[in-house]
Amino acid sequence: MTNSALTVSGLRKAYKDKVVLDGIDLDVPAGTIFSLLGPNGAGKTTTVNVLTTLIKADGGTARVAGHDVATDAKAVRAAIGVTGQFAAVDELLTGRENLQLMVDLSPVPATDGKRIVDDLLERFELVESAGKPASTYSGGMRRKLDLAMTLVGSPQIIFLDEPTTGLDPRSRRTMWTIIRDLVADGVTVFLTTQYLEEADQLADRIAVLDQGRIVAQGTADELKRQIPGTHVRLRFATADQLDAAARVLADATRDDDGLSLRVPGDGGTRSLRLLLDRLDEYALAAEELSVHTPDLDDVFLALTGRQTETEVAR
Ligand SMILES: Nc1ncnc2c1ncn2[C@@H]1O[C@H](COP(=O)(O)OP(=O)(O)OP(=O)(O)O)[C@@H](O)[C@H]1O
Ligand SMILES: [Mg+2]
Repeated sequence: MTNSALTVSGLRKAYKDKVVLDGIDLDVPAGTIFSLLGPNGAGKTTTVNVLTTLIKADGGTARVAGHDVATDAKAVRAAIGVTGQFAAVDELLTGRENLQLMVDLSPVPATDGKRIVDDLLERFELVESAGKPASTYSGGMRRKLDLAMTLVGSPQIIFLDEPTTGLDPRSRRTMWTIIRDLVADGVTVFLTTQYLEEADQLADRIAVLDQGRIVAQGTADELKRQIPGTHVRLRFATADQLDAAARVLADATRDDDGLSLRVPGDGGTRSLRLLLDRLDEYALAAEELSVHTPDLDDVFLALTGRQTETEVAR
């Protein structure tokens, strides 16, 4: 039997008549990375807030580190660390002072405090900026400081709510390395993200959240098997053109609203040339061509038949 770091059963939460969590079940084995993947408004932060005892659920149960979040909030808090979507960093304090503040607030003995702060500054490559106010930090440095602050009390379970949203690719990779190192040390990580790639890179298991329900759960490979692979999207100027192209390209899937076809293929120059030649033969021309690798939007479309709001807005 595996040891669960957290288990959630039938979790529900509504604000007035708006149902935000509609019966969520989760089981996260200790020492693994679990990712809750979903678009804006799916209920990720609400789930994290319930699991970290910031808000109370209306129904269902959740146990974190063996303690019930509703009846034993204090024990849960002692076992966890939380890095929120909106960072807890105090802008006016320096990096070192922010960390020292966490030491002062935690049960860590003061004699160990300085060593812990120094270790964390080192580990997060913040030594040089340790004496500068956090207001002068870049977004990536702030996220790192925020995560370092979370680690002061050596929590067993860490909640990371969209830890890399808004970071550039390099800072994102640094953050991924830090997260992997945490798990190598035996910590359990519960991570929310809007990026399939991030969940893919980090998570042992992924749950896809949509409008307060888990619509799929599994490893990254299991999820990807449910979605279309790399494909080429062709957009046409008129419905007639779309019709004609759909007849020529028999293996394509059509999207009538978007006047477009989704053609399976690797997106390489050779296959693109063949595709365009084929359209040429029938005197057809696409308004727009794009090569598409699977992302959260594809997972969504495949699982729910809908697109995420970001995709619709594009
Ligand atoms: N305090 C609140 N009062 C009313 N509605 C709320 C409250 N908190 C969240 N909601 C609603 O619950 C839904 C889920 O919100 P939540 O913040 O959990 O989503 P999310 O998945 O974290 O989204 P994002 O990716 O934008 O952070 C949203 O529709 C939101 O408007
Ligand atoms: Mg959120």
